Amino acid sequence: MKIAILGTGSVGGILGRRWAQLGHTIRFGSRLPTSEKVLQLVADCGPSTRGTTWHEAITDSEVILLAIPWPATQEALGELGDLGGRVLIDATNPLTADFSGIELGHTTSAAEQIADWAPTARVVKAFNSASTKVMADPVFGDHRASMFYCGDDLPAKAMVRELVTGLGFDPIDAGPLTSARYIEPLAMLYIHLAFKQGWGSNCAFEVLKR
Ligand SMILES: NC(=O)c1ccc[n+]([C@@H]2O[C@H](COP(=O)([O-])OP(=O)(O)OC[C@H]3O[C@@H](n4cnc5c(N)ncnc54)[C@H](OP(=O)(O)O)[C@@H]3O)[C@@H](O)[C@H]2O)c1
Repeated sequence: MKIAILGTGSVGGILGRRWAQLGHTIRFGSRLPTSEKVLQLVADCGPSTRGTTWHEAITDSEVILLAIPWPATQEALGELGDLGGRVLIDATNPLTADFSGIELGHTTSAAEQIADWAPTARVVKAFNSASTKVMADPVFGDHRASMFYCGDDLPAKAMVRELVTGLGFDPIDAGPLTSARYIEPLAMLYIHLAFKQGWGSNCAFEVLKR
């Protein structure tokens, strides 16, 4: 797939590297595409990868990964304008400035806000409930970390499921985009376990069924 990754931080960097290794075409959209950080990322990903502006990154893409801080999201999507039916994967978590909680919940979610701000995109929530260590390697012995995703557009969800599965996660379809109201607080539980309860970020959620 042709994937534009907006945000070249921890999440954008690891998912871009891994998808490039899996043969996807990656365009990193950055505020500073010629920075040392972006040049290194592009070099790590190989010759088919480019670092560029956000607009150029999305021009040729089928899928956009939004991996930027929540407070920057509304303005960023406003500047991007018409997303022409592209699949927009929302990996954000609407964390408060001190990371002690989330700004939205129960009656709406970051993903639903994003769908309002980007009405021509097909929004799928994913990749917000695992750490970047787990994104780098979701396999724990005989177990695979679960990755929850949700959205209202079934073909868009199928594409995201393929990307999730390709990385080694167990994909868990949580239903419509409103399910982000549950997946986003789950990320807060993860942060709490990892950083307050001392588990660290090399742990993951797994859904069991029988
Ligand atoms: N870290 C995790 O374990 C994790 C896990 C799941 C979800 N998330 C969520 O995923 C999103 C990205 O997290 P991250 O850890 O990758 O963040 P990060 O390391 O801080 O990187 C965010 C990137 O977003 C871009 N950006 C665009 N506008 C920005 C602004 N106004 N201020 C700062 N950066 C801006 C920057 O890339 P350029 O400099 O290239 O523009 C920056 O490197 C967040 O919403 C976070 O809550 C994080």
